[in-house]
Amino acid sequence: MLKISLKLGLWIFICILLIESISMIFLHSNMVHSRIDQELDSLKARGNSHRDVLEISLDPATLRHIGLMESHTDTDVVVTNSTGRVLVTSESVNSEMKQILDRSLSDVPRNGLIVQSDWRKERYIATVTPFKTNGENMGYLYMFKNTEDVEAFISQLNRHFLLASMLILFFMSITIFLLSKALTRPLIIMKEATAKLSKGDFSVSLPLRSNDELGELAKSIQTLANDLYYMKQERNEFLASISHELRTPLTYIKGYADIAKRTDLEFQERTQYLNIIHEESERLNHLLEELFDLAKMDQNTFSIAKERVHLYPFLHSIYKKYLPAFENKKIQLQFNCDNDLFVDLDPARFEQVILNLLDNALKYSKMGTVASIEAFKKEDNVQVALSDQGMGIPQEEMPYIFDRLYRVEKSRSRETGGYGLGLAIAKQVVDIHGGTISVESSIGQGTRFTIALKENYK
Ligand SMILES: Nc1ncnc2c1ncn2[C@@H]1O[C@H](COP(=O)(O)OP(=O)(O)OP(=O)(O)O)[C@@H](O)[C@H]1O
Ligand SMILES: [Mg+2]
Repeated sequence: MLKISLKLGLWIFICILLIESISMIFLHSNMVHSRIDQELDSLKARGNSHRDVLEISLDPATLRHIGLMESHTDTDVVVTNSTGRVLVTSESVNSEMKQILDRSLSDVPRNGLIVQSDWRKERYIATVTPFKTNGENMGYLYMFKNTEDVEAFISQLNRHFLLASMLILFFMSITIFLLSKALTRPLIIMKEATAKLSKGDFSVSLPLRSNDELGELAKSIQTLANDLYYMKQERNEFLASISHELRTPLTYIKGYADIAKRTDLEFQERTQYLNIIHEESERLNHLLEELFDLAKMDQNTFSIAKERVHLYPFLHSIYKKYLPAFENKKIQLQFNCDNDLFVDLDPARFEQVILNLLDNALKYSKMGTVASIEAFKKEDNVQVALSDQGMGIPQEEMPYIFDRLYRVEKSRSRETGGYGLGLAIAKQVVDIHGGTISVESSIGQGTRFTIALKENYK
């Protein structure tokens, strides 16, 4: 597997190399061409100036003078007459020069003609300029320049280009190396983090520096890790509480069964112990049923059958059903519900929610207090509120009361027989209905649970 940093680096490298090579080649050939053009132009200009002199006075002295002048420069001159006979040279004519001189010329423009520009293959570059007197063509003036100079210039140019290319390549490689490392580092860290997660190690902490897509991804992975960690923690606590909850009734059952086995027991006593065993088994059964319901809600296999419900009669029948229990404990239960409220809900499940809340109000209030069921419209919602004047819930416990098997005072609830599942179930059912449940409470003053549901108008 090719590493991503290497892949990215190679891609950038190839792209830049291509761009660099093309621009280098372009620049190089441009420089060479302009240098050759310059040489040819100056050669032609020199030829032209000799021509001007020759046209003023075409005599042996001038010719000699021109030859002498060129023998001291890096250019050479050959003057021929119109038939091609050499009149004067600054250097003895060698075979390469001869080849050029032997070419037939026709219609040479007055300002000269380039007769050899191929500096690569030939030893000379050359131009020719015709000279005339009284409009008659008197001969030609050839200018030669040895290509050694140009070649030396070009090979020096090549050396410079090579050096520059190597430097650029070197710095480019370093930059690309660092860049691709920097770009892929967060990806690699995230890959390692997810590998850790998949092995069940949720103690992942990712640097959340950038604000771009990579940063977003890191944030998501971090949230996932935190959630998984929280879930694992919660599951462990949940299992611990379940086994604790199961152990106590089982201890009772086992203890009372041991006693009931004794042969010397009165019938009445045995019946009493068996009754306790029966009660505890009932309680266990109830606990398991509720846990099972919660598990179903988690898996979304919990089905609710929603229907349009007129809230007043629905709540009033619940009120009437549970009023005796409150009267029994000398708690006044009030009912106050607007008559025009309609909502979509599953009546059986929702009765369970109200029942759980009423059960709490009853359990955690003393005699002589007042509890109430209210329903009214607030903003776009229908709110159902259940209040009591009971013992209240400590502020620091409030975030947890909807957790499974959570009880504020473990010993107190054992007496009253609760498992800490009532509110967890209520919240799940309300959630499934698309509503919210909230709580306000103050110690010694009372508690108020409020359920908000969407209203069904029509
Ligand atoms: N109206 C209330 N007044 C005071 N405390 C409350 C009230 N309602 C709930 N609580 C606290 O919140 C805890 C969780 O309530 P929840 O109904 O989930 O469990 P429970 O009543 O203990 O047991 P269960 O409902 O399973 O029989 C309770 O143990 C109690 O401490
Ligand atoms: Mg309860």
